Amino acid sequence: MSNINDLQDHLIGVYLNRQMPKIVKAEGIYLHDDQGNRIIDASGGAVVCSIGHGVEEIAETAAKQMKTVAYVYRRAFHSPELEAAACKVSEATNGDLDRVFFVSGGSEATETAIKLARKYHIDAGNPSKFRVISRWQSYHGATLGALAWSGFTSRRAEFTPYLKDFVHLPPTYCYRCWYGKSPDSCDQECARALENEILCLGPETVSAYIAEPVSGYALGAAFPPDEHFRRIRQICDKYNVLMILDEVMNGVGRTGRWFAYQHHGVVPDIIALAKGLSGGYYPVGAAVVKTHIFDTIAAASGFFGSGHTYGGNPVGAAVVCAVIDYLKEHNLVERCAAMGEYLASKLEALKIHPTVGDIRGRGLQLGVEFVKDKKTRESLDPQLQFYQKIQDEALRRGVHIESSGGCNRGQAGDLIVFGPPFIITEAEIDEMVGIIDNTLTAVEKETGF
Ligand SMILES: Cc1ncc(COP(=O)(O)O)c(C=O)c1O
Repeated sequence: MSNINDLQDHLIGVYLNRQMPKIVKAEGIYLHDDQGNRIIDASGGAVVCSIGHGVEEIAETAAKQMKTVAYVYRRAFHSPELEAAACKVSEATNGDLDRVFFVSGGSEATETAIKLARKYHIDAGNPSKFRVISRWQSYHGATLGALAWSGFTSRRAEFTPYLKDFVHLPPTYCYRCWYGKSPDSCDQECARALENEILCLGPETVSAYIAEPVSGYALGAAFPPDEHFRRIRQICDKYNVLMILDEVMNGVGRTGRWFAYQHHGVVPDIIALAKGLSGGYYPVGAAVVKTHIFDTIAAASGFFGSGHTYGGNPVGAAVVCAVIDYLKEHNLVERCAAMGEYLASKLEALKIHPTVGDIRGRGLQLGVEFVKDKKTRESLDPQLQFYQKIQDEALRRGVHIESSGGCNRGQAGDLIVFGPPFIITEAEIDEMVGIIDNTLTAVEKETGF
């Protein structure tokens, strides 16, 4: 039997030449590594862990379900848990969207959403509609389909030969508006661009528009102006283009509402979910559609031939039910909104740092963008790897914060994204922000500020 040091010689991680800390226990907002260090999980993994780590009743639910029925194949069987989970997701949307197709993660959820849109058009008698329009500086997943409509330049770069060439519109990114406007002077150019693109492509060919209601890592929680998605909704309706909102990061409470579309006063046709759907306790995702989409497919072909082997399994479904119940019983979505406001107010204090350019987001999904010059908003030299330095230094000081580079058209732009569990307390926020404050001071000194 190999010893523990030999074991890592067989693993491929994301960083092939780095020693990663080994986490041996996780509880509440804390991770504990095998060296005895306690780490605040300021990003909740990859903005996943909503109810906190180590909730026993969720673990018990999963274990009980594994003992009862661990797995059945969805093409042959459903389970009571699967039906119950769909019902709970639909209830969480207040019935805005009410048919749920479960999958195993976020990339699969967005791909399923796109396939459902295509299937809807075929079954509605419009088989020429297939094109997908998305945005630059967006992220919809790492699989080749999802990466094709993602506009996260750095994640696409090496794989572009495999990516189907769909259209990407300018992002909704007010801090660096691609149209040179400010929120007061703009006429929603980035929304109106959708109509121009649909017309140029031919409305009869366009199936769906997909966007994140609140940006994830590609733009660090950029939040669109009020009107934005209402305009998008009108344009989609005008040309029979389905509006898909990717709520993989936002959904199930993260932005302080059950779903981020609820901030924008619109109901999309389809949403993609993952991350918070299980709070990190099981790999689950879902595409959720409005009734009329389901009804159209049911009445025509009655068949949606998609899904992977593990999609719709009963353990994932039981965990989804337990996590939604837990969020409701403990009023955690309301708590997320309140703690989000508190965190945002604390982050404001970081603006005294010379590199803190913008703070944005909603609920407990908040981003900080760093710049070289606050007045001109010039980005930092990407050679500095400022974002990675912040992440590394914060970890040394006891905080895990996810960071990202390239928000400025893929060439530069550094940011960090906060996404702690909703159970975080004010005192824990104070400690977390204090460590980030000191981290920034240290990295700014190192990089010559
Ligand atoms: C908005 C969004 N969509 C899709 C995905 C892909 O999800 P997954 O990594 O579970 O495949 C992510 C992951 O970060 C995301 O943030």
